[in-house]
Amino acid sequence: MKYRNLGNSGLKVSEIGFGTNNFGTNDKWPFHMGASEAATLIDAALDVGINMIDTANVYGTGKSEEYVGKALKGKREQALIATKVRGPMAEGPHGEGLSRKSIFHEIEASLRRLQTDYVDLYQLHWVDKDTSIEETLRALDDLIKQGKVRYIGCSNYEAWRLCETVWTSKSLNLNPIVSTQPAYSLLDRGIESEVIPFCEEYQIGVIPYFPLAHGLLTGKYKRNQKPPKGSRLEAKSEPYETANFDLIEGLEKFATDRGHTILELAFAWLLSKDIVSTVIAGATKIEQIQSNAVAADWVLTGEEVDEINKLLEE
Ligand SMILES: NC(=O)c1ccc[n+]([C@@H]2O[C@H](COP(=O)([O-])OP(=O)(O)OC[C@H]3O[C@@H](n4cnc5c(N)ncnc54)[C@H](OP(=O)(O)O)[C@@H]3O)[C@@H](O)[C@H]2O)c1
Repeated sequence: MKYRNLGNSGLKVSEIGFGTNNFGTNDKWPFHMGASEAATLIDAALDVGINMIDTANVYGTGKSEEYVGKALKGKREQALIATKVRGPMAEGPHGEGLSRKSIFHEIEASLRRLQTDYVDLYQLHWVDKDTSIEETLRALDDLIKQGKVRYIGCSNYEAWRLCETVWTSKSLNLNPIVSTQPAYSLLDRGIESEVIPFCEEYQIGVIPYFPLAHGLLTGKYKRNQKPPKGSRLEAKSEPYETANFDLIEGLEKFATDRGHTILELAFAWLLSKDIVSTVIAGATKIEQIQSNAVAADWVLTGEEVDEINKLLEE
């Protein structure tokens, strides 16, 4: 496993990370893992050198953090825990959001569930239009000073909001964000026009989520064939029904012509961008974690990247 700095911070994150939104989810989601499966997968991730474990307070309404905490008992220092705050966790006016009150309450709850006294990366899950960015950033800066949080980041922020965040920190002399977590994959490149150029200019590390487009970039879903039994898209059919199989098949051919798989291409292409720090995929099986971890071994040449760009433009 190779490691990269998270944005312009000194934090070294594994090129392949592990996302845990499958942990403890309820029947609103088609995928679900219990505590012991979660522990097995986290062990497998640590074994292959993955240090970046991404969770959020809202995943499984706290269950994901709880399972991560249990799995990392006695192994805390092998992992970097990235969690998030913003989504609804309780009834009432402060049960969600990015106010000082909510953030101070939620960090304590997350630390308790994670059985740790600090998180490595605390991310704003999405924007809270009811709270000024100044209030949010001052609260996060206090958490860093208290030692409860090491680094801070955003998720799902537009480029102009990231810019507002960066400049508010600069003008108030507060600890800055070091990363942002957007949806990004070969099948979803919406952030390329504004977010990526902004992040490159300001050296904000990009942590793509849905890197495998729910599994469409793993090679296991084929045109006009039923999704494999037990796979995510067997139950959650919409991404399969609207998938661009012309592009998927083109990408698959590109990879196999070079002795690789489309899965490897999905990771290698994201990692061909220097501003991408770590790619967090979810997994439901140990073998998936193992094959995802080695995908980063394929380092694309400039010519290969140009050819892929042509395929994407077509
Ligand atoms: N910030 C945000 O707003 C936000 C939103 C969503 C997610 N996230 C984060 O991003 C992470 C990644 O998202 P995701 O896990 O939903 O999407 P994803 O990485 O696009 O898809 C992961 C799914 O693909 C399948 N898969 C993974 N590796 C595979 C392999 N090697 N071979 C075959 N199938 C494989 C597994 O599903 P099956 O085995 O069930 O088919 C797995 O659960 C999440 O865990 C979460 O931490 C963040």
